[in-house]
Amino acid sequence: MILGIPKETLENEKRVALVPEALSKIKGLEIHVQSGAGEAAGFTDEAYRAKGAVIVSEAKSLYEQSDVILKVMPPEISESSWMKEGAVLISFVYPHSHAELLKSLAAKKVSVFAMDLIPRTSRAQFMDALSSQATIAGYKAAVLAIDSLPKIFPMLITAAGTISAARVFVIGAGVAGLQAIATAHRMGASVEAYDLRPVVKEQIESLGAKFVSLPLEAQDAQTSGGYAKAQSEEFYRKQQEFLAKTAQNADVVITTALVPGKRAPVLLSENAVKGMKPSSVIVDLAAEQGGNCALTEPGKTVVKYGVTIHGLFNLPAMIPGQASLMYSRNISAFLALMLKDGKVNIDLKDDLLSGSLAVHNGEVLFPKQPAPVAVAAGGKAA
Ligand code: NAI
Repeated sequence: MILGIPKETLENEKRVALVPEALSKIKGLEIHVQSGAGEAAGFTDEAYRAKGAVIVSEAKSLYEQSDVILKVMPPEISESSWMKEGAVLISFVYPHSHAELLKSLAAKKVSVFAMDLIPRTSRAQFMDALSSQATIAGYKAAVLAIDSLPKIFPMLITAAGTISAARVFVIGAGVAGLQAIATAHRMGASVEAYDLRPVVKEQIESLGAKFVSLPLEAQDAQTSGGYAKAQSEEFYRKQQEFLAKTAQNADVVITTALVPGKRAPVLLSENAVKGMKPSSVIVDLAAEQGGNCALTEPGKTVVKYGVTIHGLFNLPAMIPGQASLMYSRNISAFLALMLKDGKVNIDLKDDLLSGSLAVHNGEVLFPKQPAPVAVAAGGKAA
């Protein structure tokens, strides 16, 4: 059996699905890697060859020969047409935004496992690529802010006088938000954070940040899986008013708020941006789902009312070395669930395999419902 690692083709996608360190842990499979697949992430063909990989120059022949393909982003339809009938594909899939691709994979009887659909149970922690990549995104959000702010983050007492610490406000304290808090705090900023889910107060405080509590109580804030629930228009309107007040005093606002299955809630209004200090910075990590700031232009960095607003996509791909390393560990752990004596064995009684299966036996299993909102190309489905 051949396991294939193609080079990613999406613009600015520098990650690779498997890094050389993973190769020796995958037993009984011949591993083919497309030449240059790891180059942008710092992994040379030579490093893969040293771990026993066969380097293949053309993507087409790699797809045609492989029984299992591991990718980061979903393949293009042209690439999927090269896949062997009955082969297995494991990658991020974002099924709501890739209906045509899934149909074409079903026509080839490919079994498609979506890394973004793996149930986030405790057994799946090692495979949780949403978390590993959100961790990198949260770190990069803080770094982008550091780079764009005309101030330094830490307080300094120098011969030239005292410089006060930058004030950072993080909205949404899930995986990405918590990492943004930790990074900004490590760099010496004074950090405040808010989340709809009151249970994260302790986590925010344990990272050295102050929890901002609003005089506003969410109805039924959290699902049983730990995600935020959508709130009423009235709630969001009040939330915008309160958040604008905290944003006024911040040098940096990092927004990460998402509600599964919905457009990202707009939490920073145009008025909130107008009220912010000149030269302050917003990093909107929810840009791919429409953005948490009303003035975010998804995919771009813009300056509005003197405030720099980053709505860039795919922050994990900006730190491709470690993003790939973490993803590679996630996908290897997932692959191990279906490998037995060097052969693929799909046991649908395993909830992690059945829960992440997007296409099987010629049938598209996800999405079960049409997309709730339009999502930017290449972005996470809402
Ligand atoms: P996410 O990316 O869906 O959301 C990010 C954050 O936005 C969440 O903390 C959410 O509460 C917040 N948010 C949504 N609407 C908001 C609003 N109007 N105002 C302020 N904040 C708002 O979530 P993520 O980061 O993927 O995970 C969230 C939670 O899921 C974790 O904290 C954890 O409880 C659970 N989880 C469990 C895992 C496991 O058990 N293996 C693994 C990963 C996450």
